[in-house]
Amino acid sequence: MIASCPIIALDFANREECFTFLNQFDNQALNIKVGMELYYQEGNDLIDTLLLKGHHIFLDLKLHDIPHTVESAMKILASKGVSMVTVHASGGSEMIKAAKRGLNAGAIQGQPKPILLAVTQLTSLSQQEMQEELLIPVTLKDSVQHYAQLAMASGADGIVCSPLEAPLLKDRIGTGAIIVTPGIRNSSYVVGSDDQTRVTTPYQAALNGSDFIVVGRPITQSDNPQRMYEVMKDAFNKEQGESKWNN
Ligand code: C5P
Repeated sequence: MIASCPIIALDFANREECFTFLNQFDNQALNIKVGMELYYQEGNDLIDTLLLKGHHIFLDLKLHDIPHTVESAMKILASKGVSMVTVHASGGSEMIKAAKRGLNAGAIQGQPKPILLAVTQLTSLSQQEMQEELLIPVTLKDSVQHYAQLAMASGADGIVCSPLEAPLLKDRIGTGAIIVTPGIRNSSYVVGSDDQTRVTTPYQAALNGSDFIVVGRPITQSDNPQRMYEVMKDAFNKEQGESKWNN
């Protein structure tokens, strides 16, 4: 990934929408996040095209299956040349270890191995749902901390979490862990105009210990995406300084 640059969430339905957006950045290499919608629609052809254009890809598929299946899937994803991937920490330590084995086995020689991130509890899940539907009897905060520690102890390189949870988690899982935070908004974006509730600014996210911010709609729906990207990047870097994660 390119250090200190926001990861743009390409939450588009298809490649036409995706490239209409990216063409506004001339030929600038970007950190971009491809999620399930775009990947399931366009597959590896799209990944290959984005890589050829010099972009760095966070492929956010949130794998969660038996260890053997996750290991095989990660081996394939690593061979595609993506830079970051995700699993659900709730898959358990054996699944996370298997994911790491798969990435190590599939990584392209001479390139950095993909960064393995774990998702703790989905931010869409409330404490009440977690306790009453999933029968997890602890607080949401304790569960998030526990899953983060489990993931790191099992070989994950970092976690995806809310920027508001980042300081506490950084404390618990150590400064070597890569913290990636969505839920980023700045003052020119009307807070409350979409489904994100636990949000903060790029500057505050950096202060909170975020290594990478993921920004979607504030950039993709902006009248001037390139300018908004630069604004977000500058605000993040005011605090961030030189990052150690540059691959
Ligand atoms: O448009 P917005 O900036 O809210 O996009 C944030 C991106 O981060 C989306 O792709 C969303 O799915 C993702 N995400 C999130 N919260 C999480 C994990 C991922 O918003 N806990």
